[in-house]
Amino acid sequence: DVMREILGLKDLETNLKRILPIDEVIVVAGDSDLSPWVKKEMGRACVTCMKDRLPSHSIVAVTGGTTLAAVAEMMTADLKQSDVLFVPARGGLGENVENQANTICAKMAEKAAGNYRLLHVPDYLSNEAYQSLIGEPSVKEVLQLIQSADIVIHGIGDAITMAKRRKTPEEEMEKIISGNAVAEAFGYYFNQAGDVVHKVQTIGIQLDDLRHVRHVIAVAGGASKAKAIKAYMKQAPRSVLITDEGAAKALVRES
Ligand code: F6P
Repeated sequence: DVMREILGLKDLETNLKRILPIDEVIVVAGDSDLSPWVKKEMGRACVTCMKDRLPSHSIVAVTGGTTLAAVAEMMTADLKQSDVLFVPARGGLGENVENQANTICAKMAEKAAGNYRLLHVPDYLSNEAYQSLIGEPSVKEVLQLIQSADIVIHGIGDAITMAKRRKTPEEEMEKIISGNAVAEAFGYYFNQAGDVVHKVQTIGIQLDDLRHVRHVIAVAGGASKAKAIKAYMKQAPRSVLITDEGAAKALVRES
């Protein structure tokens, strides 16, 4: 803790709490845009944060992305509560296998010596497919587990970066660009004011559901995500933010 004070991380945390409507924040040293290991440091901080909040018989819902993959990598099995169930927060969002919520969820469970359930749904769902899928008993069962999550751990991304990474169809891409989207989380795209300008149709946690979740932990760092973090937090229910020095300094500078 003395080290964190010397590094100025404590000051950054105090400043961020003034700028953003968040309950709690942890800033790790470095900038994950420049040094990949910083994601693992955020991962380590996230695992500690999760363990501190874990009730017994708990359900933890997670999203995808490289940051959440780093959280999974840092997961350890010393959970005091033996029965943690990991579930993906939402269905397919167009990520590569290693960055999909399903993959990350299974890896976390394995490392934590917990259990997991997966959502097997395609990435792009038509309205008809969506309606019939949510009626399937096996999907319904997992959806119910997701909706009763005690903890949700999620990533936040830059809107355009994410839209490109997902190979978003042109029509949707135009909607995202003309809506001036700057942030993405859970398949939702947000403008600077925190308004939703586009949403990927998939099953699982919807933005409104987050208000009923006990603990929401956002993990996102790198100076390039400062705008996205700020925009997303404008509409987010008070949550815990785990970020890095790169993003924190950019946020403070731009405030
Ligand atoms: O696609 C899943 C997701 O969690 C997005 O909601 C988020 O924008 C993105 O991943 C973050 O990815 P990364 O951690 O690789 O920047």
